[in-house]
Amino acid sequence: MREQYIHRLLNMLNYYSDTFARLPLTDVEEVYATILAQLSSILRYRVCMLLLKDHNGSFILRVNEGSKVDLPASGHAGHGMLEYLWHRVDMALVIARSTLEADLLQAGQQVEMDIGESLIAVPLKAIVNYRETQIGLVIAAQPYGNHEPDIDKQIMEVITSLAMGAIASCTELAERKRVEAELTRYRDHLKELVDERTQELSQALEELRTTQHQLVESAKMASLGELVAGVAHEINTPVGVAVTATSSLHTRAQKLEELYKSGAMKRSHLEEHLKALGEGCQIVLNNLQRASNLVRSFKEVAVDQSSEQKRTFALKGYLEEILTSMQPKFKRTKYHISISCDENIILLSYPGAIAQVVTNLLMNSLIHGFENREEGRISIEAKTDLNSLTLHYHDDGNGVSSDILPKIFNPFFTSKRGSGSSGLGLHIVYNLVTQKLKGTIRCESTAGHGVLFIISMPLERVEE
Ligand SMILES: Nc1ncnc2c1ncn2[C@@H]1O[C@H](COP(=O)(O)OP(=O)(O)OP(=O)(O)O)[C@@H](O)[C@H]1O
Ligand SMILES: [Mg+2]
Repeated sequence: MREQYIHRLLNMLNYYSDTFARLPLTDVEEVYATILAQLSSILRYRVCMLLLKDHNGSFILRVNEGSKVDLPASGHAGHGMLEYLWHRVDMALVIARSTLEADLLQAGQQVEMDIGESLIAVPLKAIVNYRETQIGLVIAAQPYGNHEPDIDKQIMEVITSLAMGAIASCTELAERKRVEAELTRYRDHLKELVDERTQELSQALEELRTTQHQLVESAKMASLGELVAGVAHEINTPVGVAVTATSSLHTRAQKLEELYKSGAMKRSHLEEHLKALGEGCQIVLNNLQRASNLVRSFKEVAVDQSSEQKRTFALKGYLEEILTSMQPKFKRTKYHISISCDENIILLSYPGAIAQVVTNLLMNSLIHGFENREEGRISIEAKTDLNSLTLHYHDDGNGVSSDILPKIFNPFFTSKRGSGSSGLGLHIVYNLVTQKLKGTIRCESTAGHGVLFIISMPLERVEE
């Protein structure tokens, strides 16, 4: 009888053992249904139950082939017993009805279900959040007269452990899907964020460009205004002097004419008037000359007016030519100029602009740097890297004090007003370097220690 029973059970187990393996493993509900279906069919004549908890902690009870009963947390017939079992069972157990009744009585509860002679309960476990957690109980009631509860218990353990494997695969799949969905959501969100930021940034950039443009424009207008005021002021003096001198010449000429017509003119008169006329003419000439020089300088301020062509030239030879052309100015002095420049430095640029820059710097060293100095040294050093040229122009003269250093590139700034300087030299240099040669220039100096001009520019001047 016992052997027969065992034999039959083994056959059935064999038959069912791979049912779980064949489940699609996408739906844990199917696994639960399979547990109940198998139990009911093997342990045919028993009540089989699956006790689960939903995520609110309420019990869900499935009886035999899947009928589902949601039990509220308390107050339901049988609830006390299920609660008791849930907490009591953490391994497969056979619990005799009498034991169950005694335990429940102690807790003021009763067995309110038809559970027969005993109960077999097996915990259903799964890994939740990396921890083994009891997610359900598989319960089978034993009818009176069944003498093989241990065999039934083992059958239930086998089915439960097969089910646990299937549940693990289901949750793993669900978890993977959840993580994938989460990732997609993050990715979409990230993309949105990046798009948003990109848009904000490009808008900010656009605004910056506009502001920069406006600033440049207003700076241009301001320096133009300054320049015009300066031009008017500078030209006003020599032209004013010339006008005054001319009008006194005119008066003298009239007097001369009157004397001549009256016949009272003496030789001494004539000599005196001719001398004064000559002096007056010289004043007029000097001042008009100065005005004309100023006008020429102003033209140079407007860099773009020069029609010089861009060309390729070797820097060293060109610098030497510039020095030769300046030789007359340095001839009878003890000022020494040295050039340090590789023969191979070739520029594609505007040589005339470079000549003008170097000439202005040399004139400044001569006039300002070496003023009241017997001796002086000037060095011009050229260096290149990848695609730019850096010129270091140095003199060891008087230098510039810190209060005037920030102003030396301003138009009409000069420390020698009244002795023929207009203060345009370095302004022209600045415009030529930054506009014509597309480079940069700055000056380092302290009073008494000479000047150093650092000029950078591209080796190949590319037109925009
Ligand atoms: N090498 C130098 N050493 C000392 N001071 C200098 C030197 N170069 C320029 N400066 C100072 O910078 C000022 C401005 O120079 P800038 O060439 O613009 O005008 P300027 O020489 O006075 O007049 P201009 O060049 O129009 O005849 C000079 O007046 C002088 O004070
Ligand atoms: Mg000058």
